[in-house]
Amino acid sequence: MTKRALITGITGQDGSHLAELLLENGYKVYGLVRRTSTVNFGRIAHIQDQVELVPGDMTDQTSLQEALQVAQPDEVYNLAAQSFVGTSWTQPTLTGNVTALGVTRLLDAVRHVKPDARFYQAGSSEMFGKVREVPQCETTPFYPRSPYGVAKVYGHWITVNYRESYGLFACNGILFNHEGPRRGIEFVTRKITHTAARIKLGLADKLYLGNPDSKRDWGYAGDYVRAMWLMLQQDHPDDYVICTGSTHSVREFVEITFELAGLDIGQHVVFNDPRYTRPAEVDLLVGDYSKAARVLGWHPVVDFRGLVGLMMEEELRALQDNRRDW
Ligand code: NAP
Ligand code: GDD
Repeated sequence: MTKRALITGITGQDGSHLAELLLENGYKVYGLVRRTSTVNFGRIAHIQDQVELVPGDMTDQTSLQEALQVAQPDEVYNLAAQSFVGTSWTQPTLTGNVTALGVTRLLDAVRHVKPDARFYQAGSSEMFGKVREVPQCETTPFYPRSPYGVAKVYGHWITVNYRESYGLFACNGILFNHEGPRRGIEFVTRKITHTAARIKLGLADKLYLGNPDSKRDWGYAGDYVRAMWLMLQQDHPDDYVICTGSTHSVREFVEITFELAGLDIGQHVVFNDPRYTRPAEVDLLVGDYSKAARVLGWHPVVDFRGLVGLMMEEELRALQDNRRDW
């Protein structure tokens, strides 16, 4: 029988990769899309005729219930969020409404409309924030450092709570940073590759960045959506850390990008620009994915250098083809 899935956040980076994976696996895919004044289906344009888009918003309970009624999903992937950490300081209550309370709205809609649906919550390594141990795993205590991180901690615990209170098959993925050519332009990796490609083609001259010393465990989005799917195929619901296990600084990301592009960092890059530094920083993230490897059989495929390379390649191709974005 054909499985049915509902993805919130289908127009985002992960939503588009996950929709591709589920279509390849024979699923009927539904995607929740919110009303915007201009259409923003760039990342799903190539599969738009294969997915059913249903209107709804994470701040609107009725629309979430309606989406579940329409989709009657076997699996629900909650990827929708105000996902940019920087914006969470300037829009803290919106971030709380969408990224935290939105999870409760969706869980409650699942509980009433399709309680046998399996549920995935997009948790984040930002929940570890000021890290209590290195590397971070499923039992590491949370210490979020941004309104976004705080909202994700709420999303995590309400998912655990609905699993324990109502017996929902609900899983938390605690995903470390994952990137790729479809990454939003405001995130540091995409900002670096996009600007470097523009500099290379003579369309820009400078790259302005904030803190170059913060370290992240960066993986490839295409690898990480596979882990989301695997979590919902198990006999029991559980929570899993998904990462690569190695960490690199923002500066190292710049160095490899500029090396690949044949550009001089000293000539083009300005670090510590106050416009891009944060009120509180997460200095070091590096995860331990041994539980996911053991239980799910999951391993990342693309390594750090491979990730920078594939982003840079696609960036140059898109600019040369005069494509604006995914
Ligand atoms: P993204 O590219 O920013 O996509 C976010 C998605 O959420 C978009 O489709 C967006 O719709 C949708 N959305 C935002 N507000 C909404 C609302 N009020 N109602 C309905 N939809 C709304 O994020 P991503 O990188 O794919 O990440 C997916 C999820 O994983 C997010 O929850 C993020 O917080 C989490 N996460 C990401 C990473 C990472 O490194 N990428 C790591 C850990 C956790 P529009 O297109 O209309 O804006
Ligand atoms: N965005 C940005 N822009 N970040 C910069 C810049 C800059 O110009 N310069 C330095 N950074 C530093 C940030 O201060 C941060 O320490 C690091 O680069 C990564 O920033 P982002 O790429 O914006 O990602 P993030 O780690 O804050 O959040 C992402 O990963 C989380 C998982 O840990 C997002 O995808 C979150 O949604 C996700 O949960």
